[in-house]
Amino acid sequence: MKVKNQTIVFSFSETSSLAKSVAKKLSCKFSEIISKKFPDGESYVRIKEKVTEKNFVLISSFAKNPNSKIIESLLAASIAQEYGARKLILVATYLPYMRQDFRFNEYEAVSSKKILPILCSSFDEVLAVDPHLHRIDSLKKISSNARSITVIPLIIDYIKKKFLDYEIVGPDEESRQWDKRIANSLNLNYSILKKHRISSQKVYIESKGLAKNVLIIDDIISTGHTVLETIKKAKKRGSKKFAVIAIHGIFSNQSDKEISKYSEIITTNTIPNKYAKIDIAPILSEELKKTLIPLP
Ligand code: R5P
Repeated sequence: MKVKNQTIVFSFSETSSLAKSVAKKLSCKFSEIISKKFPDGESYVRIKEKVTEKNFVLISSFAKNPNSKIIESLLAASIAQEYGARKLILVATYLPYMRQDFRFNEYEAVSSKKILPILCSSFDEVLAVDPHLHRIDSLKKISSNARSITVIPLIIDYIKKKFLDYEIVGPDEESRQWDKRIANSLNLNYSILKKHRISSQKVYIESKGLAKNVLIIDDIISTGHTVLETIKKAKKRGSKKFAVIAIHGIFSNQSDKEISKYSEIITTNTIPNKYAKIDIAPILSEELKKTLIPLP
């Protein structure tokens, strides 16, 4: 296969286990990037492999320390470019800065339109796993060399194993794109709730009668308030059993601790965490094959 000796899969330490597994599926080399901090907080980056004439694939989750990770990914790409790599591909397992996709208050920065183009300017192609697309419905509308990958088929397979007697619940309108597709493909009932965001730390969910067993599916769990409010409201209306599936488990301020008091938690491994039971390596390797070996 063409990909084999012509591609090296790189990652920072955080995503090394996922990147290793993707490299194995592609039968190519994996290499961890050295990244350190200078005493003043600036980033130092070095790669350990010769990339000349090779495809440089960087698998990066930008969830923890997104600002540093953006800089470090750009620096890694600059090395690959200066040493004559053939094609530079970034796989953002979690693409940051996508939720601020609108100027909610005067003079705010709309980050979703600004950060992706910076990453795209240093790579030939950027693949992002289920990015938070809402008011802007496609990455192509932001950068022509970016595209989304979805891991929804893996979530559907997981639900088949243990949640077929649950109602799927989306906590807000944004979740409809995932929840409707999942519920329809499994022939399950689903409800999409109404969420009002009061601040980054506070949300209000409108109450609605739901089934006894509730499976909340959302793209991101960050502070956990969205999920906790949903559980609280459903409990009040008589729901008894809860499970939560998120694509990206950020769990800011250890929000998983509170959620796990009420519900089982399952995520994918786009961001490494102890609830990451759904492995996205099969989908990433298939998508990379398509990108690395263009069809004749
Ligand atoms: C936003 O609309 C997303 O889909 C998630 O619902 C949100 O990011 C979750 O954030 P938090 O866990 O902080 O409530």
